[in-house]
Amino acid sequence: MSRSNKRYYITTPIYYVNGSPHIGTATTTVLADATKRYHLLRGEDAFFLTGTDENARKVLDAAAKVGMEPQAFVDEVSQRFVRAWQFLGCDNDAFFRTSDDRHFRCVQEVWRRLWEKGDIYKGEYEGWYSVSEETFFRDTDVDAERKVVTAEGPSKGAVVERVKEESFFFRLSAYGEPLRQYILDNPDFLIPETRKNEVLAFIDQGLRDLNITQSRTGWGIPIPGVPGKVVYVWFDALINYLTESGWPDDPNWETLWPADVHLMGKEIYTRFHATLWPATLMALGLPLPRHVVGHGWWLVGGEKMSKSRGPMPEPQEVVAFLHGRSGAAEPICIDALRYYLLRDIRFTDDAEFSLDMLVTRFNSDLANDLGNVLNRILRAGFFEGVIPEARVLDSELKATADRAVADYEKALERFDWGSALQSAWSLVSAVNLYFQEQAPWNLAKNGDTAGVRDAVYNALEGVRLACLLIHPVMPQATRAMASQLGLTDFAERGSWAQGSRFGALVPGTATGEATPLFPRIEVKKPVPEPKPTRETKTKTEAKPDVSNIPTAEPEGGEQITIDEFARVQFKVAEIVAAERIEGAKKLLKLQVRLDGDETRQIVSGIADAYAPEALVGKQIVVVANLKPAVLRGVESQGMLLAATDAEGRAVLLHPDKVVAPGSKVK
Ligand code: ME8
Ligand code: MG
Repeated sequence: MSRSNKRYYITTPIYYVNGSPHIGTATTTVLADATKRYHLLRGEDAFFLTGTDENARKVLDAAAKVGMEPQAFVDEVSQRFVRAWQFLGCDNDAFFRTSDDRHFRCVQEVWRRLWEKGDIYKGEYEGWYSVSEETFFRDTDVDAERKVVTAEGPSKGAVVERVKEESFFFRLSAYGEPLRQYILDNPDFLIPETRKNEVLAFIDQGLRDLNITQSRTGWGIPIPGVPGKVVYVWFDALINYLTESGWPDDPNWETLWPADVHLMGKEIYTRFHATLWPATLMALGLPLPRHVVGHGWWLVGGEKMSKSRGPMPEPQEVVAFLHGRSGAAEPICIDALRYYLLRDIRFTDDAEFSLDMLVTRFNSDLANDLGNVLNRILRAGFFEGVIPEARVLDSELKATADRAVADYEKALERFDWGSALQSAWSLVSAVNLYFQEQAPWNLAKNGDTAGVRDAVYNALEGVRLACLLIHPVMPQATRAMASQLGLTDFAERGSWAQGSRFGALVPGTATGEATPLFPRIEVKKPVPEPKPTRETKTKTEAKPDVSNIPTAEPEGGEQITIDEFARVQFKVAEIVAAERIEGAKKLLKLQVRLDGDETRQIVSGIADAYAPEALVGKQIVVVANLKPAVLRGVESQGMLLAATDAEGRAVLLHPDKVVAPGSKVK
């Protein structure tokens, strides 16, 4: 097969179907989509794969919890992911589901080859398993009494169960050294650098052979000739990337394989995508993916919320919020969310997801900078509605544009969309400044028509080029802007070579109508300034409770009716016990007494303000009819009321004198 047919192959993790798509999974999917669109612009034949991970124990548990047959359950939930990515304008070329027959066959073929080679062998496993993490842990990683993971890392605090059974192992230990060498020989394989170092340190501790079976029947990939066991879900899941290529039977499998980039969050990087997966490929004698990229997490209220730990905002609700607040068209709001996700997700650190910040980005970056620049030019009275011809390109603006394009391309070699977008915005700002300084309205007054044409052409060209850079992230909004510019062919496949040069705008075409795409959102309280630099640790605000999605609703701004107020049940509660939650610095787990003997468990972010011992016996005010939420794996059945002091620490509200627990507060 000729390598010239090789497609640029981009993957996201396949997401567990034990919950709905949220802004975390949306981020990696949009990252992949923007990366695909960028490579299409460059004329490459890009292929983008996402999908769902369906053979996991936790998926089986989730199905049982709602009383559904597992297959019917995964059929339904996987469609939520299909729809969410469609909604977000993600153009994936395939949607992979691991419950598919062809995947079973591919995994079984991998098994057969590695067994014959001696890289899979039979043994006895004794250790720990965490269903929420779908990961095996060693004795040294676990507190055996409390049955939780104590090892530092993203799984800390996860609940584990004891496993002792006959199993099959993958000879991972044999690949530590070759893998280490490969990483050193291929400096762009593991991205970013900090994660590469983490992986090298992990390998240096010694990779250990991995149990790759689980005792189960009826759900999971059966192992030929080994009844009662299925393939360990991670061993099966990673192979999805290869199955999609058609390996080993499809003669064209090398048009896809090796993958150009696997994108993911940090928690599945070191153990899985950067060690187990390349080792498996080495064992099979297959080429390794070109890049493995891990980003940080979104935190909500300072916590990593996930399907199992608690609610993360869903993309559709965030778009609805933005649509409601701005009045902008839905496709524009979708692009605004895509922009925020890619602009502010961090590579090495975590970042706080906040609707306030989304509103700020919308107002300052989109309404002010990007939207304004086009409107100002197109609406100016001295402009005749046709793209004019300039005598010269403005050399300073051109230099800024060239630098923006070069920085952008450089950032994207490392999949760093946040920096790439910053470069695009450096051009947007330069165009705004240029237009202001040229002051074509003055030139027009003085009868300098050639000067006006120069100013208008250069500014419009700057806008066009910025739109091209922004296009992969905001495809619909930039097309709308391009059509206002009168461009009928914009951001076509392969248009990068010409289009990324300053000066490509062709004079003579009539511009379209200027309609503001990003109406400014009214905010009654000041919203935070956008963070100027990337990779700076995002300070997370202390919030008394993290079970609610923060909204940008101004404090005390909007009035509610007495009926709306009456829907919230405030009650006095007495704290009977309080303890810290392992692995969650801010959280305390409280047992509170309400009416009679009823006790409730409330998880609250007050650990930095109160020692647990000091709370017992105190009376507080709680919201008694809040839907339960799971925080850090712990259920919270309500929320307590607290103010915040100058340091941002919680200050609890107490009744003025002791009253019966359960007393209503109104
Ligand atoms: O791990 N911030 O699936 P999963 C940013 N099935 N990204 C987040 C996030 C957050 N708070 N939460 C989730 C699995 N993500 C396995 C993968 S791949 C062969 C198997 C994103 O449903 C991020 O990409 O737990 C993370 O790695 C992924 O969702 C985990 O999804
Ligand atoms: Mg997960």
